[in-house]
Amino acid sequence: MVAAARDDVVGRVRDIEVIAAALGAGRSVLIEGPPGTGKTTLLRALAAGAAVPLLLVEGNAELSPARLVGHHDPSRVLSEDYRPDNFVPGPLTRAMTAGGLLYVEELNRVPEETLNVLLGVLSERRMHVPRYGVVDAAPSFRLVAAMNPFDAVGTGRITPALYDRSCRVGVDYQSLEEETAIVIGRGAGPDGLVARSVRAVRGSRGHVDVRIGSSVRGALDTVAVAAELTVLRGEQHPSEQTGLDAALSALTGRITLAEGCGRTPEDVVTEIWQVAGQDPGKA
Ligand SMILES: Nc1ncnc2c1ncn2[C@@H]1O[C@H](COP(=O)(O)OP(=O)(O)O)[C@@H](O)[C@H]1O
Ligand SMILES: [Mg+2]
Repeated sequence: MVAAARDDVVGRVRDIEVIAAALGAGRSVLIEGPPGTGKTTLLRALAAGAAVPLLLVEGNAELSPARLVGHHDPSRVLSEDYRPDNFVPGPLTRAMTAGGLLYVEELNRVPEETLNVLLGVLSERRMHVPRYGVVDAAPSFRLVAAMNPFDAVGTGRITPALYDRSCRVGVDYQSLEEETAIVIGRGAGPDGLVARSVRAVRGSRGHVDVRIGSSVRGALDTVAVAAELTVLRGEQHPSEQTGLDAALSALTGRITLAEGCGRTPEDVVTEIWQVAGQDPGKA
């Protein structure tokens, strides 16, 4: 399980080991870390390595208990009334029944009543679904939830009860070497441009005018867009303008400016891109 995950995930060895151990010990896991820090990648790799079905659910305000648990097919209810066999199981029910791994992303955006359903399942390993019946969790059923600490939306609502029923693993941005390896592993791009893109996203994180910087996704997109633009413009190598245009498209939407900084995202990204190009081994 762990060995397979190591092949797909750059670094994160300790996190993979601890999460695998917690799941192996029958525990649920909360992974806390900014977007783009490899949480989904890591979970997918672990599930694939363990040959366990992974049910991935995007947490948002629309994730009602019915969406998570399942619902009765409305048209069949009209003609046949509520029956267990016209129940359409949702990801939670399917994961519990199949003994799978339910992975809820952005848990802090999930409505309170949905959190309560999850809490109930964590404590009882079973749930009562009205007009369907009792759903028991197969022994290998596990819940893993991810949370973004930058997302103030609802972190406070993550009840202490949930923390008390899970193991927590905090993840953060990876090292320069690892982020470079991630970008190289995801596709082609001139070495200089890869290095500069990784420096740019890292530079965005510490920038005075930026409250939330870009994850490695911004570097992945800069390289991918620059490669396309280079061809489209008939260039042999990405020109300075091509690199900048790619960076602007990949990064301006990914950074959140500091309050009252008075600059535009374009202005800040242009500066970050220029600084990233001045480092040793520049593009
Ligand atoms: N450690 C890693 N190893 C391999 N790829 C990674 C790693 N971290 C991030 N990535 C890549 O970066 C992107 C974002 O990763 P993802 O797992 O979706 O992050 P998260 O779920 O934390 O938002 C994906 O394209 C993924 O392939
Ligand atoms: Mg994710």
